[in-house]
Amino acid sequence: MYDIVNEGSAVIKIKKADKISKEMDVFYNPVMRINRDISILLLNAIDNENMQIALPLAGSGIRGMRFLKELRKNKVKSVSFNDYSAKAVASMKNSLKLNKLKNKKKIQIHNEDANLFLLNSKGFDYIDVDPFGSSNPYLDAAVKRISRNGILAVTNTDTAALTGTYPEACARKYWSSPKRDYMMHEIGLRILIRKVQLTGMQYEKALFPIFSYFKDHYFRIFFQCIKGKKLCDGIALEHGMFNNAGPLWLGNLFDSKLVNKMHSALKNYNEKNPIKNNNVMKIEDFQDTGNRRFPRELIKFLKTIKDESKIDVVGFYDLHDITGKKKMRTMDTKINIIKKINKKGFKASNTHFSGTGVRSDIPYNKLLPLLKE
Ligand SMILES: C[S@@+](CC[C@H](N)C(=O)[O-])C[C@H]1O[C@@H](n2cnc3c(N)ncnc32)[C@H](O)[C@@H]1O
Repeated sequence: MYDIVNEGSAVIKIKKADKISKEMDVFYNPVMRINRDISILLLNAIDNENMQIALPLAGSGIRGMRFLKELRKNKVKSVSFNDYSAKAVASMKNSLKLNKLKNKKKIQIHNEDANLFLLNSKGFDYIDVDPFGSSNPYLDAAVKRISRNGILAVTNTDTAALTGTYPEACARKYWSSPKRDYMMHEIGLRILIRKVQLTGMQYEKALFPIFSYFKDHYFRIFFQCIKGKKLCDGIALEHGMFNNAGPLWLGNLFDSKLVNKMHSALKNYNEKNPIKNNNVMKIEDFQDTGNRRFPRELIKFLKTIKDESKIDVVGFYDLHDITGKKKMRTMDTKINIIKKINKKGFKASNTHFSGTGVRSDIPYNKLLPLLKE
C-alpha cells in the first residue's frame, strides 16, 4: 500500500509505514519538513546562483524535488541525487516523473556509497549531509568536495553523545566534553560546529556557521566555506571552553542579516499563499495546493531565531533553573522580564533552545533583582 505525500510544491509516492524508522524501504520523515523548508528559504536568501547541488543521502529525494520546484530559477544548475539503497533510487525516479521533472541536464541520479559518490565527483556548491545518526562518516568527503564560497549543510541526530548522556562517546566522536544541563543543546551544537570546522581546517577550508539550530531530535548547521589558512587560524582562536564544557565554537551561530531576510521572505510568501480549504486532493492537483504554504510553527521558530541572532553572547539564562536554585517562590512572566532587561539598557530575547530560556547580555547579578514580580 502506498501513500501520496505532498510537501511544499512536490509530491512523492511512498510505501505506508507504521513507524518512521531506518527500517523503512524508502526513508521519508514528515517531521523533517521544517528542516527542508529552512534549506529552501536559506538557499533562496543567499547570493549564490547557478549552484551544483549534491544530496549524497537523498532518501526519498523529496528535498531535491522541492529544490527543483521551489528554488528561484537562477539558483540551480544541477541536482545530483544519491542513495546506496536501490529501492530509494527506484522510488526517486518514480517521484521525479510524478513531479514532471525530466530535465536530464539538470538532474543526475547515483546509487553509490555517499563517500564514493562525493569523492568521485568534481565538487559541488551545496552539499546536504543528512544521515541517520552522526554526520561523522561523511564529513571528510563532504568538506573535500565543497567549493569555494559553497554551502555545506549538516544534520546530526546523535543527541545522546552531544548532549551528555554518553560523555565518553562525545570525547571519542567529537573530541570534546558535553554538559548535561538546561544548556545542553546549545553546548552540543557548538561542539558539533567545532568538529566540522576542524575537519575543514585540515584542508584550509574555513567553515563559518551562517544558520545553526537544534530542533525536535536533531542538530542542523549551514556553513559557508571560504578557502584560506589565515581564516582557519582565526576560527581556531574562537574555539574554547564554556561553563566547563568544550572545547566548542564560541563564535556566532547565525548571520543575523541572512536570518532577517529568510524571516521576511517567509512572511511575504505565506501572505501571498493563503491556506486553501481543499484538503482532499487529486494527484493532478498536487502542483498547486494549500500544502505549498510554510507551516505556522516555522514562522514562530524563525522569529525566535531572528531575535536571538541579534544578541552576540554564548549561552542563555534558564528562568526555571534560577528559581529552583534560588528557591524563589514567585517570578515575573518571561515577557516582562525581557522588557525589564531592555529598560536597563541590555539586550534580551527568547531562545529557540528552550521555552524557559532568555538570551541576554545582562550580567547574572543584575538579572536577579529583575526576576521578582
Ligand atoms: C535520513 S535519510 C535521508 C533523508 C533525506 N535526505 C530527506 O531529506 O528526506 C538517510 C538516507 O541515507 C541512506 N544511506 C545510509 N547510509 C548511506 C551510505 N553510506 N551511502 C549512501 N546512502 C546511505 C539511507 O538509505 C537513507 O535513505
